[in-house]
Amino acid sequence: MTTEELNSPQGYKTPVGILGVGHFVPEEIVTNADLTKFVDTSDEWIVSRTGIRARRRAAPHQATSDLAVEAGRRALQAAGTRAEDLDLIIVATMTPDCPMPATSTMVQHQLGATRAGGFDLNIACSGFVYALITGAQFVASGTFRRVLVIGADCMTRLMNWKDRSTCVLFGDGAGAVVLGPVEPGYGIVGIHAGVNGAGGPSLTVNAGGSRMPSWSEGVDSSDYYLQMEGPEVFRFAVSVMGEAAIKALENGGFTPDQVSLFIPHQANARIIEASRKRLNLPHERVFSNVEHYGNTSCGSVPLALSEALEQGRIQDGDLIALVGFGGGLSWASAAIRWGGKKES
Ligand code: UT7
Repeated sequence: MTTEELNSPQGYKTPVGILGVGHFVPEEIVTNADLTKFVDTSDEWIVSRTGIRARRRAAPHQATSDLAVEAGRRALQAAGTRAEDLDLIIVATMTPDCPMPATSTMVQHQLGATRAGGFDLNIACSGFVYALITGAQFVASGTFRRVLVIGADCMTRLMNWKDRSTCVLFGDGAGAVVLGPVEPGYGIVGIHAGVNGAGGPSLTVNAGGSRMPSWSEGVDSSDYYLQMEGPEVFRFAVSVMGEAAIKALENGGFTPDQVSLFIPHQANARIIEASRKRLNLPHERVFSNVEHYGNTSCGSVPLALSEALEQGRIQDGDLIALVGFGGGLSWASAAIRWGGKKES
């Protein structure tokens, strides 16, 4: 076995890593105090149950592709990659601009990624990590050299402002990464993914698909909104988040104590704290920005990764662990040895 194979536990022919990261959030900040003007809630309840203090809301003229394009542009800049050099664009989202065409095609056009293919991927809030490990396969196999993976959602468009148990939790945002070949020993060193479809009914948007088309009789406006059995999803999240991280790490031959920074899906500070304890990590090795953005669904993990980098929390050689979870119920994780960027 060569060194390269030893360092590519997924059997990757080419080691694949993140070459650049970027994020974008809309300008409008909606604080908990703002919400109390039209929702029967309080800052105290939201902060104590979720850790969220504010979230961003897209302007009426903005849609998911607008956030995705800007995050993608910033990731390309950070990677030193030209849009024309992209081979593939994957957009993870559960709030596409419309059912067709796919949001990735709008991103391709806006970025001027003339050579790139593209597709959307929807597995709710787990979407970004699923898209990351999907995009990585194309690079790992040697098929493509540059893949742009974006996680973007306008979750406020799915909020029922009469449902206080959900509308205080979510916000809008996007994050993106450029994937490409890296030096042996670096990049994605372990992955894991799973679903438990039996839990699907606990987190849904019922209308707008083929089961309940928008024009069908008896569709209630609440069917268009996100609905959630909060405590059930909470229990699922607490049980899966730490385990998913451990499985991705084990898959790469690592243990949690080797993790420099754990970047979990930003849904709830209590869920993040429970997984920190499960992984037995000190607070400084866990990243959270849920306080500022709430749950941005597919935007959550790359937005956290991007801010962690901006804050100097990740150095070359660090082992980081990413975990997403959400509707489906679903989850995915990746362990990454940061750095190892190749020239060109
Ligand atoms: O990416 C998708 C993943 N989603 C998640 O990760 C969400 C997971 N779930 C959660 O984070 C938590 O379950 C919530 C934050 C949604 C709720 O926290 P909880 O501690 O599970 O509260 P609960 O749903 O059991 O509700 C407790 C009480 C209820 O009142 P009663 O019945 O005890 O009188 C609710 O009506 O809190 C009430 N409540 C609120 N009160 C003030 C629910 N929402 C609110 C609110 N403001 N916004």
